[in-house]
Amino acid sequence: MKQFISVNDVLSPSFGGVGEAIDALVQKALAYKTDPFKDKTLGANKRIGCLFLNPSMRTRLSTQVAAQNLGMETIIFNVGSEGWALEFEEEAIMSGNTVEHVKDAAPIMGKYFDILAIRTFPSLKNREDDYSELYIKQFIKYAGIPVVSLESATLHPLQSLTDIITITENYKPAYRTGRSQTAHRKPKIVLTWAPHVKPLPQCVANSFSQWVNAWGQADFVITHPEDYELSEEFTKGATITENQDEALKDADFVYVKNWSTFNDYGRIYCNDPSWMLNNEKLKLTNDAKVLHCLPVRRNVELSDEILDGPNSLVTPEAANRVWAAQAVLSEILKTPTP
Ligand code: CP
Repeated sequence: MKQFISVNDVLSPSFGGVGEAIDALVQKALAYKTDPFKDKTLGANKRIGCLFLNPSMRTRLSTQVAAQNLGMETIIFNVGSEGWALEFEEEAIMSGNTVEHVKDAAPIMGKYFDILAIRTFPSLKNREDDYSELYIKQFIKYAGIPVVSLESATLHPLQSLTDIITITENYKPAYRTGRSQTAHRKPKIVLTWAPHVKPLPQCVANSFSQWVNAWGQADFVITHPEDYELSEEFTKGATITENQDEALKDADFVYVKNWSTFNDYGRIYCNDPSWMLNNEKLKLTNDAKVLHCLPVRRNVELSDEILDGPNSLVTPEAANRVWAAQAVLSEILKTPTP
């Protein structure tokens, strides 16, 4: 693996199809969960730089733990609050607030580190700008070393890999068809929009949709209110409905997440509290397990009774962030550099 920016980076001739490649990466992550230090020298004498242009708790800590499990040294740099303000536009006349161009900064980081990991967020002001993924693409262009997304303007691939690991672990696929027969069926996974007080990025929802569709091993339904459509680039293949109750029917997993509007970009059109998942709504499901990437606004985005109840997977899901990061870093470490 040469970089990790989206599900497309999991495609590899050694894995076969993308569904098989995702499964292989999931199994690799689960093997690290069983034996965290089995490759403790793989990253010896290697260093990962983790650059944060935006806040993080889980991504920052889990990536550090994963790298250290592989014997790598990690250096964290909070560019957004501690570094020079970076310019990303080519041929910019830097007479404004930006102090250093990424084409000057990134090659230096490429000399300090063996892997560069970066978190950026979208502005939510201009969709074309955000969806161009300029920030992470400029780091890829100028760093000269493998780049890992710790969440970009439109995607959050380490989170999505984690989510598929968590679903794989928690799905009991066999069901009875007769007295002694069992059969297997795909899990029904529902991605549901939830209310929030602030306009949030579409990254987690986009990325989850992209990964579940590429995985191809689920009946995948997305439900949201009118005006909260996501980009077809990521949702194509899913069933999409504005009827949340209908979507939740017989679900095995419910992924809860807020996102702001895509078409009239970055806005809040609806804050209807009836979209918040609670135990009453959970009765529509097949005793579904509930996921959320966190952080979560309790009793706005997701109810206490769900978060503190037996169906919540949010803590094991967040714990699995380590194994997802470890699987990805080890794939990159094992790939020969040109
Ligand atoms: N889910 C997630 O990315 O959490 P952080 O923002 O805390 O890293």
